[in-house]
Amino acid sequence: MKQPKRYTITAALPYTNGPIHIGHLAGVYVPADIYARYKRLTGHDVAFICGSDEHGVPITIKAKKEGVSPQDIVDKYHAIIKQSFEDFGITFDNYSRTTAKTHHETASAFFKTLHGKGEFIEEVSEQLYDAEANQFLADRFVIGTCPKCGNEESYGDQCEKCGTSHNATDLINPKSAITGNTPSLKETKHWFLPLDKHEDFLKQWILKDHKSDWKSNVYGQCKSWIDDGLRPRAVTRDLDWGIPVPVDGGEGKVLYVWFDAPIGYISATKEWAAREGKDWEPYWKNKDTKLLHFIGKDNIVFHCIIFPAMLKAEGSYILPDNVPANEFLNLEGNKLSTSKNWAVWLPEYLKDFPDKQDVLRYALTANAPESKDNDFTWKDFQARNNNELVAIFGNFINRVVVLTNKYYDGVVPEPSNFYEIDNETLKTLKTYPEVISNSLERYRFREAGQELMNLARLGNKYLADEEPWKVIKQDESRTQTIMFVALQIASALATLSEPFLPFSSIKLKTILNITQGEIVTTWEEVSTKNTLLPAGHKIGKAELLFSKIEDQDIQTQLDKLQATKKANETENKAIEPQKETINFEDFTKLDIRVGTIIEAEKMPKAKKLLVLKVDTGIDTRTIVSGIAESFSAEEVIGKQVTVLVNLAPRKLRGIESEGMILMTEAEDGKLVFVNPDTTTTLKTVSNGLHIS
Ligand code: 2FM
Ligand code: ZN
Repeated sequence: MKQPKRYTITAALPYTNGPIHIGHLAGVYVPADIYARYKRLTGHDVAFICGSDEHGVPITIKAKKEGVSPQDIVDKYHAIIKQSFEDFGITFDNYSRTTAKTHHETASAFFKTLHGKGEFIEEVSEQLYDAEANQFLADRFVIGTCPKCGNEESYGDQCEKCGTSHNATDLINPKSAITGNTPSLKETKHWFLPLDKHEDFLKQWILKDHKSDWKSNVYGQCKSWIDDGLRPRAVTRDLDWGIPVPVDGGEGKVLYVWFDAPIGYISATKEWAAREGKDWEPYWKNKDTKLLHFIGKDNIVFHCIIFPAMLKAEGSYILPDNVPANEFLNLEGNKLSTSKNWAVWLPEYLKDFPDKQDVLRYALTANAPESKDNDFTWKDFQARNNNELVAIFGNFINRVVVLTNKYYDGVVPEPSNFYEIDNETLKTLKTYPEVISNSLERYRFREAGQELMNLARLGNKYLADEEPWKVIKQDESRTQTIMFVALQIASALATLSEPFLPFSSIKLKTILNITQGEIVTTWEEVSTKNTLLPAGHKIGKAELLFSKIEDQDIQTQLDKLQATKKANETENKAIEPQKETINFEDFTKLDIRVGTIIEAEKMPKAKKLLVLKVDTGIDTRTIVSGIAESFSAEEVIGKQVTVLVNLAPRKLRGIESEGMILMTEAEDGKLVFVNPDTTTTLKTVSNGLHIS
């Protein structure tokens, strides 16, 4: 099949409320950059697009927290993010921003087109409202229990735990993130995109057309949403930060950030094309163009369901060919978190390791969360550097360059007879462009990175087997052949490493003196040319490609994380003040008894919930308890527990819960029963009761 020549490659627009961290890099930007570089290197016409996502509630919340305007926040972080991407070697053709004029115009026009085509439902409905803050509570302004998985910290528009996207009014027990108040309902008008209208198209396009070529994690999430039934989604908000709703009745309202942000890919392409004197439209409207969205798993619904529905409704755009979303990266066993400062921030990394961009790219690729969440550890980072980049890749190059300089004053020697091992090695070398391409075409970046390292391994093994440093003592012409073959491998590595290790690739090309002219080898030529570095070509002097990372450097990073952990613990203690004092009469209202759990089972599709049958001594009743992440159903059967029996019954996911099991946290943060005969050291019980 003939490969398409034009690629529009987008990388998720990062929210401009903090710097980039390794989770963003591993999930989105490193694989996207590898892919874009690889496509350019193989002769394709690439538009690699990104920019800052500057609207939406995360920005407003950050601005409120810092006591500055949202514009101040986005200006600050846009500059930091853009610079760190550049310093890290991410080769966006355009890094734009959604506060740009072109974007406001493009997003407004897009909305107007859909509006004009009657693609929206305009409806007055009741939305969550915080009277004290005088604010409708959309998106991250409201937190509550996810109706799908029971996560108690779901946002209004999306649960970060199970990825479900929902309406704020779907949340159970919603609370305002501004005041902590329970919101009331207030009528307001909004424009809704009727996703249900596009259900048949989405079923065909995703569940049939892309069943086999989309990653199973992406396909699986899409299928689950479609199977659950699609409903209209509001695409406007009652907020004062964003793109004004450009139609009658839209005064004081803005576009939902997830309506405008993906259109940002289009505006950024327009901006780039105008700058380059190109036409933007083929990159978004020509059927021969391959559109790819690189994103993290929390963005799947927006890129696979909502944005395609918008594009389809508009009518003149192509749809994504693939959405190779990654899972999440954890850090030293814990979830990365901007608010808890549990992250390795890119600007800090670049300060601490100024010449080691490639090491991080390599470690994140080797450990990429491609099919499941993965953990980044500083020890693994050190091992990837010391045991692979230094000991394999760097060592091979160093030996080749040092020996070529020593024996031949840096001039590639004339080979004589090729032995079988030489021919075999050169033949194997020629397979690598295809081997690596095959992995990249299937978005298997881990595998591709390891194949590159296998090529360096091939070189090392060849030298170790042929031992030119020994052979030179008896057979000069054989040594020439060996060194000639080894130099071909070094040259191939310089070319094929470019997408993965761009800084080292340039360094290596400089060492081998192959930065310009005929001597420059393309990706395909590594397979097709018999000689990459011809006899007589003079290479440069040896220079270390990679250097060892010492234990002390790693310890410094681990200490930093330890300090963060400590600071968080102190802060958590500080923000958990004693609740309001109650009088004895209040206390006597609580009917607390000792009961026995006689049956237990997991609530289907709810990670946190167990459905318990508890013998309270007065009756046997059902209690839904949010302890499933700490206890299995089997282990709680027969357990004596403390039960608040006169709590008003409440329906949780369709099951009436008649009471509450009292829980607290042990000193290590684990949930434990407030158990009549427990021996665990507990924090003050009265302060630690958990609604379970
Ligand atoms: O999750 C995020 O960080 C979003 N800002 C991603 C937006 S991607 C796109 F649609 F713009
Ligand atoms: Zn959820």
